[in-house]
Amino acid sequence: MNHNIKKGQQKLKNSFMNMKALTYDDILLVPQYSDIESRSHIDLRTKLSRNYGLLTPYVASCMDTVCDSRMAIKMMELGGVGCIHRFMTIEEQCNEVTKVKKFMDDNRMMEKWKIDDDWHTNILEIPIMAAIGVSKHDIERALYLVECGANVLLIDVAHGHHKNVRLMLEKLFNILPRYIDIIAGNISTLESAVDLCEWGADGLRVGIGGGSLCTTRVQTGHGIPNITSIINCVRAEERNIGIGTIPVMADGGIRSSGDIAKALAVGAECVMLGSLLAGTKESPGNIVERLDGSLYKRYRGSASLETKSTHNQSTKHIEGESTTIPFKGSVSYIVEKLNDGLKSALSYSGCRTIKEFNKNAEWVEITNSGMLESKPHLL
Ligand code: XMP
Repeated sequence: MNHNIKKGQQKLKNSFMNMKALTYDDILLVPQYSDIESRSHIDLRTKLSRNYGLLTPYVASCMDTVCDSRMAIKMMELGGVGCIHRFMTIEEQCNEVTKVKKFMDDNRMMEKWKIDDDWHTNILEIPIMAAIGVSKHDIERALYLVECGANVLLIDVAHGHHKNVRLMLEKLFNILPRYIDIIAGNISTLESAVDLCEWGADGLRVGIGGGSLCTTRVQTGHGIPNITSIINCVRAEERNIGIGTIPVMADGGIRSSGDIAKALAVGAECVMLGSLLAGTKESPGNIVERLDGSLYKRYRGSASLETKSTHNQSTKHIEGESTTIPFKGSVSYIVEKLNDGLKSALSYSGCRTIKEFNKNAEWVEITNSGMLESKPHLL
């Protein structure tokens, strides 16, 4: 009985606390005094997970139209990481990881990622990241992926605050070497973040239903807008483990360097990108030419009818869309623009590092008029 009363009270508290939830367009960052003379003095290094760092805070999403070995290699060259998707056989996914691992062993890559003493990210080695699910075959998948060189695994499920994720984390904890980090998600609440940290996750993937092709919120009525999701999960990090120990990766709904800046400003260490990196030369899939000569590529949600039927999965519980998007050329161009925008963002807040930005950035909630004013409005 006590438990029920407690649960009821807690529920009431949560519904009041979460009466209003914010996303990227609901806030703006506050310009602050800056003594940064050049944007080239800004350092974009950050943490991916408990033991792995990044030179730039971008993670290519584990979607079958975003990241296989080609994207992962390019992201590594650009200082980020690509998470090899899991919609293939274990053997195929291992081949993809092996290609990335071979490239990583190149001396130039090691030189680029060289760690200096004042780097707060405490990196062990260059991250090689791959996604797994929570079925019994995924234990086998995880073991083979690690054997081929993966050192960061992502438990890639839509609802990460789930018994199956807890069981998976427990099993992996017992069989994988300690230097393998496991990122788990997706989550949105303080309670889920605390639980995942306690269950042994080395990183949190945060955001439910906010992706550009997601229909989860429409289908199920569940989800929390992304800025509030990040704030919720960062609070768990502060409360339980100590700031920065279990990094938060903001996932879904990021459309620009401004959105990335906002995610990091409210406490995320890195961001996972789908639509921003889809449609590039390095994303999986063919380029389609239309009659007028314009070029396109497919981008599809992992829980879309198209993805599920391509991979012979059950076509029940569809929670995503699919579409074509204009071909964008190389991902290098996209990342370069993101770096430029993000460095400017840190400069506006007077911060030299992402860690400083996590701590010192300030933001305000804006009205709809403020949002309209924030975009070009003469044209
Ligand atoms: P963006 O906005 O970057 O979002 O394109 C990418 C993220 O969206 C999530 N994702 C899905 N969510 N149904 C969903 O509800 C889907 O079919 C789906 N596919 C991807 C995922 O978190 C990804 O990183």
